[in-house]
Amino acid sequence: MNKFLFVLGSNWRLSIAELDNVLKNSQFLGKIVDYSANIAIVEFENLHEDRYYVNKLMDLQFLLGGCQKIAKIYDFINILTIQEAFPLEMENYKIIEKVRKKILNLLDKSLDEIFPNIKKESLFFAVSIYPNLFDEEYYSKILVRHFLPFLNKEIMNILKQKGAKKALYYQYPQKNIDEGNLNPIFPHHLIKYGLFNADRAEIIFGFTEEGVYIARTFTSDDPSFKKKIDEERPFKEFKSSISPKLAIMMLNFLNLFEERETKKIIDPFMGNGIIAMFATLQDFDIYGSDIDEKKVQNTIRNLDWLLNDIEEAITPFFINKFKKIDVKNLLDHYDPQLFDGICTEPPLGIFYKKEKPYYVEVNEVIETELEPIYEAIFSQANKLLKPNGRICMIAPIFSIIDGKDVQINVEKLANRNNFKLIPIIKEKRIINKSNQKLQFRKPHVRTLIDAKKGQIIKRKIYIFEKKN
Ligand SMILES: C[S@@+](CC[C@H](N)C(=O)[O-])C[C@H]1O[C@@H](n2cnc3c(N)ncnc32)[C@H](O)[C@@H]1O
Repeated sequence: MNKFLFVLGSNWRLSIAELDNVLKNSQFLGKIVDYSANIAIVEFENLHEDRYYVNKLMDLQFLLGGCQKIAKIYDFINILTIQEAFPLEMENYKIIEKVRKKILNLLDKSLDEIFPNIKKESLFFAVSIYPNLFDEEYYSKILVRHFLPFLNKEIMNILKQKGAKKALYYQYPQKNIDEGNLNPIFPHHLIKYGLFNADRAEIIFGFTEEGVYIARTFTSDDPSFKKKIDEERPFKEFKSSISPKLAIMMLNFLNLFEERETKKIIDPFMGNGIIAMFATLQDFDIYGSDIDEKKVQNTIRNLDWLLNDIEEAITPFFINKFKKIDVKNLLDHYDPQLFDGICTEPPLGIFYKKEKPYYVEVNEVIETELEPIYEAIFSQANKLLKPNGRICMIAPIFSIIDGKDVQINVEKLANRNNFKLIPIIKEKRIINKSNQKLQFRKPHVRTLIDAKKGQIIKRKIYIFEKKN
């Protein structure tokens, strides 16, 4: 089976949008053929034919901000078979036993591929189950309490029957199993337990509405590196900063995948420079500016810290690319059509903490502070960008006291400055699902939101393209 399973980031819609865009526009051509709130199933046009496809998967893993792991799929079991073998209410034991045998036959075959050598080997495996949705009853009641112990025991038995000297499995805390509340293996555990070695494996059972995919993990995100940048960089302000993952995803929405070192991009509201840092790591020719001199110095110090960490030297030429500039004066500093893309988080207004604001308050901030800045970035970008150059940007949505949401009409400002909105997911790229929680409600998904539950200011992610 030439399909791959991608474990998605916590904002699964945004992760799917990013993955779909990469599969459509980069060298990694392919299509998402199935998905849930935790995984996406991908069929590549030709990546799987490459002898060194695992190296390619590693490159792809590094490129993506919203992907935790990539695994190769070896088999698939239809959801009806699984539900017959592991029903919510145990009734007909004869049928259950018969169908479970069928599942064991499939496992038997997959294990020969997951472990290339079994005879006389000491093997170790960790089973990770990714349900359709973590909050569904079937996960806590059946998959964690019955399916997982079944898999652990039976996989161990099959490996021993096939001649393994030893076969051990990763034991999750019993308390979590009893409570039906379990997280699959974290990416950093994959490295800790050596699960990329030939004799050790993470075996993923990834569910969608259609069934369960059986896969072995080949690559994982390096969350400790991102965490280090997020938490240890010299200058940071969590309330005004986006996450590393979001910065990487936004950079990918610029659609600049080839020869990144030649692609000039700019963040004109760079703050402490999270976008500049990840653009540097992703090989872009990144420029940055901010109205506040202190922020410019903070970004330079952060970049110095980052380059030092990856053992590269910071040059005066590099430092010169980060300047104090008011966004409305960008053209005084840069030639027209210099840039291939703009990736940025403009000011979001006041940071309301606990209390929701009144409509009049928000409206005033939007009209007097935010709209002039957003208008300025579009009018400057129209001249600074090459034809068809893209802007990936954030704009705020405010939850106000009467329960409604208020936002800037960013699209109007963009349109009157020669930009068109690019839907973040294009029509018919993703098949729809019957569970409402998993649906993309419209055929075109125009924008997506990045926010935690109850957040008063939410971030909305937009992609715009210069019309000519
Ligand atoms: C939301 S913050 C960006 C945060 C950034 N993503 C980070 O990682 O720190 C917006 C930035 O826009 C800057 N800013 C505000 N008005 C500006 C203007 N007219 N021109 C340029 N920068 C401006 C602020 O100084 C602030 O650093």
